[in-house]
Order: sequence, then C-alpha cells, then structure tokens
Amino acid sequence: MFNKVTCGVSLLPACILFFILNYFNTSFIVNISICIGFYLLFLFLIVWLLLFWMKNVVDKKVKNILLSLQELTDETPSNIPPLDALNDQITTWTSKKKVEIEQLKRLESYRKEFLENVSHELKTPIFNIQGYLHTLLDGALDESEVREKFVRKATKNADRLSTLVDDLLIISSLETKNLTLEKEEFNIAELIKEAFEALEIKSKEKNIGLEFKKGCDKSFIVNADKDRIKQVVYNLIDNSIKYGKEGGKTSIGCYDMENAVSVEISDNGIGIEEELLPRLFERFYRVDKSRSREAGGTGLGLSIVKHILEAHQSQVNVTSSIGIGTTFSFNLQKN
Ligand SMILES: Nc1ncnc2c1ncn2[C@@H]1O[C@H](COP(=O)(O)OP(=O)(O)O)[C@@H](O)[C@H]1O
Ligand SMILES: [Mg+2]
Repeated sequence: MFNKVTCGVSLLPACILFFILNYFNTSFIVNISICIGFYLLFLFLIVWLLLFWMKNVVDKKVKNILLSLQELTDETPSNIPPLDALNDQITTWTSKKKVEIEQLKRLESYRKEFLENVSHELKTPIFNIQGYLHTLLDGALDESEVREKFVRKATKNADRLSTLVDDLLIISSLETKNLTLEKEEFNIAELIKEAFEALEIKSKEKNIGLEFKKGCDKSFIVNADKDRIKQVVYNLIDNSIKYGKEGGKTSIGCYDMENAVSVEISDNGIGIEEELLPRLFERFYRVDKSRSREAGGTGLGLSIVKHILEAHQSQVNVTSSIGIGTTFSFNLQKN
C-alpha cells in the first residue's frame, strides 16, 4: 500500500518533468536519467517525512508512558507512609489508649469507693434511727426519761441524714460540672455576719466567740455567686466551731488586695497534723471519724468548699498547728 501510494504520488511529477524536458528537445537518455534521479529524490523525501512523523508519534507515546510512571512513583510515598512513621503512629496510639484505660480504671475505682462511702454513711444514721424507734415500740415509750432521750437521738440522726443527702446532692452537681455560677456584686463582710447569725446557737453551745478582726467593719465588695460563697463561709465557720475548744474563738479577717478580697477564718481549736493537711479536701476524709460523726459531720464540707472556690478560679489554703489552731483562707475577685 505504501509503495503504491508513494509510487503513484512520485511518478506523476516525474512524468510531468519528462514531458517538459522532451519539449525542450534534450536527449531521451538524459531526460530519463534526470526523471529517475528526481523520482528517487522525491521518494527519499517522502520516506524521510514518513519516518519523521512516525518518530514523533512514538516519542509522544513514550513520553506519555514515562509521565504516567513518574506520577505513579511520585504518589507512592504519600499513600503508603514509610515504616518508621507507621511505627511512630502505632506507638503514639498505644500510649494514648494506655492513658485512656488508666483513666477509666481510676474512674471506676473512684465510683466504687464513692458508692461504698455513700452507702456506709447512709446506713449508720438509718440503723441508728431504726434501733431507737424499735426500742421505743418494744416498751421504752412508757419510760418518759428513755423516751425523750431516744427521740432526741433519733432526731439527731435524722438531721445528719438530711445534711448528708444535701451535701451529696451538692457534691454530685459540683463534680459533674452541672454548676452554673450566678455571679453578682455583694459585700462579703455582710455575708459573714449572716453566717455568724445562722451559727449563733451552735457557737453558744460550745461557748465559742465569733468575731471579726480589726478593719473588717467596712464593705468588701466581691463579684461571685452569693449562695455558693455563703456555703463556703458557713462550712469553714461551722468546722471552726466543731473542731474548736470549749470557750475558744473564731476570728474572721477580710483584707483588701489589688483586684481581690482575701478572707481568713482562724480558730484556736484542736489543730491538724501537717502531713494530713493535703487530704482534708478529699471526699469523706476526716481526721477523727467519730468526732466528726458526733458533731454531725459528713466529711464532705471541705470538698464542697474546694469545688466552689475552684469554680470561681480560686483555691482554699490551710495552715494548722496541733493544739494551737487552724486557719483557712481564700481570695475572691472584686469584679
Ligand atoms: N478548723 C478545723 N480544725 C481542726 N480540724 C478540722 C477543721 N476543719 C476541718 N477539720 C478536719 O477536716 C475534716 C474534714 O472536714 P469536712 O470536710 O468539713 O468534714 P466534716 O463533715 O467532718 O466537718 C474534719 O473531719 C476534721 O477532721
Ligand atoms: Mg465540715
């Protein structure tokens, strides 16, 4: 096919040349030689063009193949990370999971311990109330002295139960972060006076004086959740009475700082050993369990104090000396 086309195409101009040469009367041999030469030259030109075209086509194809190969080798490293990187990824993932497992284990033992503590704390007053009521029903009702004593004891246990349930509700809302602060500006010295009034009977029972230190008669405006801070102040003064000496005193100091007000609650009570101080804020921790129970304590008061102050971006500090007394202090922002 190639030969027929090229021959056809190249013969036509060769024949035209032959006739032109004949027209000018040159010899036949010369004419035919010129035409054959022209024909061969023309043929060579066509073959050369054809080869040039084929080379271009092949070049293009090879170039495309090389480009695809290049893309393939370029993509490979990003899709499949190198072994070192993979190893690092696995190590990071494993250590992350280890931390998560440890956290879950800690939470689980925390939950178990909390449940054990709660059920133990609830059982004690309930058993006591049951005991007093059964004894009364079994005949003690007729003895007026025993009757009054047992009814008083049952009431005390019922009060303890109620305080415990209240404290548990507060601590669970604080620990599950359901607490939303309702901040307002108020005079903390006024709030301390209110706490003094609420604890007056209790302090008089132990003949403990509640007083302000010098300089606390002016107003100390803070920006905080009034009800929650009332609870903090109440719990700290309540402790100072519970663990204070008969005839002792609780003094409150208020100090103006640059952006905050500092409050200090000091007693001259039994005091706490220094190494036990960090444990005071744990739930249900008491230095002397029976003394705390006898005084109607739940072991949750300081834990509540800590949570409330933390929600206010503050913290509670404590210093104490055995037999000399204890001081709790905290700061509150002015605005
Ligand atoms: N002012 C204080 N003086 C001596 N001990 C205190 C004082 N405040 C707290 N504590 C100790 O810290 C423990 C934890 O206090 P808290 O959480 O308020 O529980 P509680 O219900 O027993 O009062 C108390 O049981 C007591 O042993
Ligand atoms: Mg307390």
